[in-house]
Amino acid sequence: MLYLRNLIYHPTACPTAILKAVNLELAPQQLGLIIGPSGSGKSTLLEILSGLAEPTSGAVFWREQELLAEQIQQLAGLVFQFPERHFCGGTILEELRLGHPELGSERVRDALSEVGLEHLSLSAKPHALSGGQQRRLALAVQLIRQPNLLLLDEPTAGLDWSMRRQLVNLLAKLKKDWTLLVVTHDAGDLLAIADCCWTLNHGELKSVDPMTLKAKVQEPQPAV
Ligand SMILES: Nc1ncnc2c1ncn2[C@@H]1O[C@H](COP(=O)(O)OP(=O)(O)OP(=O)(O)O)[C@@H](O)[C@H]1O
Ligand SMILES: [Mg+2]
Repeated sequence: MLYLRNLIYHPTACPTAILKAVNLELAPQQLGLIIGPSGSGKSTLLEILSGLAEPTSGAVFWREQELLAEQIQQLAGLVFQFPERHFCGGTILEELRLGHPELGSERVRDALSEVGLEHLSLSAKPHALSGGQQRRLALAVQLIRQPNLLLLDEPTAGLDWSMRRQLVNLLAKLKKDWTLLVVTHDAGDLLAIADCCWTLNHGELKSVDPMTLKAKVQEPQPAV
């Protein structure tokens, strides 16, 4: 179980806090969805939850234990927005083993099959894959480390309708084994697989019922 308690992020150069007393609880094998407009603090929150940034105050707990930034790095795997832009391995195998040369071929194969890429050659170039395959590879790069918590920043951004649908199905499958926290400005088809939802506005996180949001999305639009 992930708990965030009164998390505040307020760099001294900023007139107001970027994250304002954020409280959140996420149970294992659930998919939490945070929806917020551009600039609301989504990526900043994921940076804290992946140990890349330290909160000004407040705490992150996993089960009953409060975590320091370096412990959070072990716990969480962050998939950046447009992760394919950060690929630096010349082959799929190199990409998966970056920073973990000790990982055996079984872990490599397991990570690829988790994301449905087991049929690809390990010597294929990451940049030669389709957009949807690249997103899957970026997920495998984090899953191979077997993090307790998978963090995804706008996972469907820039994908066409069918690739988006495939990725949403994959996330629905992954949450059977992993705990996922997804941030997006456009809930769209991610709402269907969310177990709990929050909105984030100007750094303020509020819990919302996914069913209420789903009903809103499905409401017929008034004729103009
Ligand atoms: N270290 C920092 N110092 C000052 N301002 C920052 C810092 N980090 C983020 N910000 C500001 O905090 C706000 C939130 O940024 P963040 O990138 O988290 O938003 P976001 O919700 O991810 O937006 P987008 O949807 O555009 O990706 C922005 O106004 C950004 O300029
Ligand atoms: Mg962002």
